[in-house]
Amino acid sequence: MKPELQRRVQRYGWDKAAKFYENSWQTQLKPAHDLLLENVEIKPGDSILDIAAGTGLITFQMAKLLGPSGRIIATDISDEMIKIGTATAQSNRFSNVEFKQMDAEILSFKNSSFDMVTCSLGLMYLPDPDRALQEMYRVLKPGGKVVVVVWGSRKRCGWAEIFPIVDARVSSDVCPMFFQLGEGENLNYPFKKAGFENFTLKKISTNLHYNTADEACQASFLGGPVAMAYSRFDEKTRNEAQQEFRASIESFKTKSGYDIPGEFVVSFGYKPILA
Ligand SMILES: C[S@@+](CC[C@H](N)C(=O)[O-])C[C@H]1O[C@@H](n2cnc3c(N)ncnc32)[C@H](O)[C@@H]1O
Repeated sequence: MKPELQRRVQRYGWDKAAKFYENSWQTQLKPAHDLLLENVEIKPGDSILDIAAGTGLITFQMAKLLGPSGRIIATDISDEMIKIGTATAQSNRFSNVEFKQMDAEILSFKNSSFDMVTCSLGLMYLPDPDRALQEMYRVLKPGGKVVVVVWGSRKRCGWAEIFPIVDARVSSDVCPMFFQLGEGENLNYPFKKAGFENFTLKKISTNLHYNTADEACQASFLGGPVAMAYSRFDEKTRNEAQQEFRASIESFKTKSGYDIPGEFVVSFGYKPILA
């Protein structure tokens, strides 16, 4: 897929997914978010950039740790995500949080602007993750830290069939490289290429619980990256795709719903002090 098309599919797809996102994923992604939060180092007064921030599930947790003298800028390519994040910041009176619409590969900040850059579950959607990490490096102050979380190996993600099921019904793949970064130690390569040092990679395995197959379908078809493609299916195609997805998660059925396996990878590193 051409990079520009991928960006558009992401931008307008996540616009459609935005209103379903927190309901569909907030509880299920908690282990990934906790993994990121365990590996950030936040001092009151720091400046933080949160990339592909979505509705701000991570942003607001970091904002509480920062205190009023710090500031956090949350960026995302989707205007609808930015609207929801901005509304949450206003209604909860977060004076240290600002949301801005921005492509992760073209950051409009000066060099050496932030003490830390985070990106939670966003890198897999970008046409050029190497370039995004180079941008993160550029805007970090020397000695600053980057912390990135991605989905892990395809064979450890029980909902992974969503991609071939949808891709079989559209003309080009929705997220062609989705599971590449989280495989093995692949994430080390873009870190090294961007110039980060002392980088560390850790993985966790977890289960994503949904009470019903309908909830799991809503999360995967409406609340995530295939939302754009799905919105264009006619009713017959939607039903067929849902049936296939339900069959693909049937083996994860438990007495209380579905426990769908997932793996997350966190990687963090530092911009050299003498950079
Ligand atoms: C799974 S959500 C993650 C949101 C949030 N960080 C979290 O952990 O809950 C992925 C986000 O990546 C954003 N995204 C996709 N492509 C992007 C791009 N090129 N630049 C910036 N954000 C992008 C989407 O709009 C979406 O909000």
